[in-house]
Amino acid sequence: MGSEKKIPYKIYLKEDELPKSWYNVRADMKNKPAPLLNPATLKPMTADDLKAVFCDELIAQELDETNAYIPIPEEIVDFYKMYRPSPLVRAYCLEKKLQTPAKIYYKFEGNNTSGSHKLNSAIAQAYYAKKQGLKGVTTETGAGQWGTALSMACSYFGLDCQVYMVKVSYEQKPFRREVMRTYGAKVTPSPSTTTEVGKKILAEHPGTTGSLGCAISEAVEAESRQEGYRYVLGSVLNQVLLHQTVIGLETKAALEKYDIVPDIIIGCAGGGSNLGGLISPFAGEMLRGEHDYQIIAVEPASCPSLTRGVFAYDFCDTGKVCPLAKMYTLGSGFIPSANHAGGLRYHGMSPVVSQLYHDGIIEARSVEQTSVFEAAEQFARVEGILPAPESSHAIRVAIDEALKCKETGEEKTIVFGLTGTGYFDMVAYEKFNNGEMTDYIPTDEDLKPGFDGIPKFPGNEF
Ligand SMILES: Cc1ncc(COP(=O)(O)O)c(C=O)c1O
Repeated sequence: MGSEKKIPYKIYLKEDELPKSWYNVRADMKNKPAPLLNPATLKPMTADDLKAVFCDELIAQELDETNAYIPIPEEIVDFYKMYRPSPLVRAYCLEKKLQTPAKIYYKFEGNNTSGSHKLNSAIAQAYYAKKQGLKGVTTETGAGQWGTALSMACSYFGLDCQVYMVKVSYEQKPFRREVMRTYGAKVTPSPSTTTEVGKKILAEHPGTTGSLGCAISEAVEAESRQEGYRYVLGSVLNQVLLHQTVIGLETKAALEKYDIVPDIIIGCAGGGSNLGGLISPFAGEMLRGEHDYQIIAVEPASCPSLTRGVFAYDFCDTGKVCPLAKMYTLGSGFIPSANHAGGLRYHGMSPVVSQLYHDGIIEARSVEQTSVFEAAEQFARVEGILPAPESSHAIRVAIDEALKCKETGEEKTIVFGLTGTGYFDMVAYEKFNNGEMTDYIPTDEDLKPGFDGIPKFPGNEF
């Protein structure tokens, strides 16, 4: 039809089209995600219980399951303007290369110095910490994207930033560490001897190269020992997912400008924050019975929380100092193999994403890392962007779906989240290019000890 709009390569919203509110999908969920539990009493954590660890305003967001829209403060919108709205790109070149009738779009979140979507929540969390008059924050980082994003946000607001970085990444990604230090953060390899929990983990597992779960335990302990500090987390929590909804809200607004309705929406899932943020506005339509989409979460076959985990209350960290969250989990004692997508090596999953998965609103797939890097290179060679290994999990499934369309002739519209760039992941690319990359899929035997460590109490059977 002559009236059909020509879709540009990149759809950019205008600055004044930036979302004014975050969308809280919990308001539209009939089955709300289960509350965090105090591990000592097994009672839901109240705002008072959480006060010692998190900032007040963030606690309110964490516990809010009724307000669908939460206004974004002006100062945060102003910071967002540094790098948002982010483009929604039509992958014309990839479509051509694949010779698929599918129409592929990706929302690119790597166009800021931290290189990923993590900045969307870092800036919000740093803002609320500053507003509360705090001196600083502590956090963990796996591959380093979250720590980098938080360092940027803290330097902007003049807050001290202490990052516990998983030791293997600290050693393998010295430049990521240096970026954080350049923004003024103090970076400690985890497990370390600076915390009691770190010492305990080191005593139990001498020579361990750490995990996200260990680093969380250390960051929480470090916060509790310093006056005027709070702990902040880069994924999993409801508040983080909420901040990340700027991704989905912008995506939806950009699609609507051109009357595009997606069939399939795909995101990689580590702790679930980018996926949750991308899909929330679409899942909301499904929950309200307004529309149907196929939503796919993609995780590594080496750390398959959704596809092989159990839905139960579990600790969010290895040291068991954090509250219990009801989520798909492999057990807080599960230490994933050294997959190169460090940001996806987490034993659990956001309670919101877990509940949506449990209720059939979203589906999940697991993919092996060599096939992920094949997809990453295929994408890079035609679309130009060098993707992060985490993001490349979504690329893998987007390509798989586009190839299915090639077979069936269906012209499906596929949208995926391209969460970041992979410039600090060149050791992984080098391994892949040298043919040295291997795939590891845990056996049921390998998974058993993790499941055995999940706390047992009435109502937590799985
Ligand atoms: C580029 C990138 N994508 C995705 C993820 C996964 O995190 P989440 O599931 O919270 O979005 C990470 C985590 O570090 C990341 O750095």
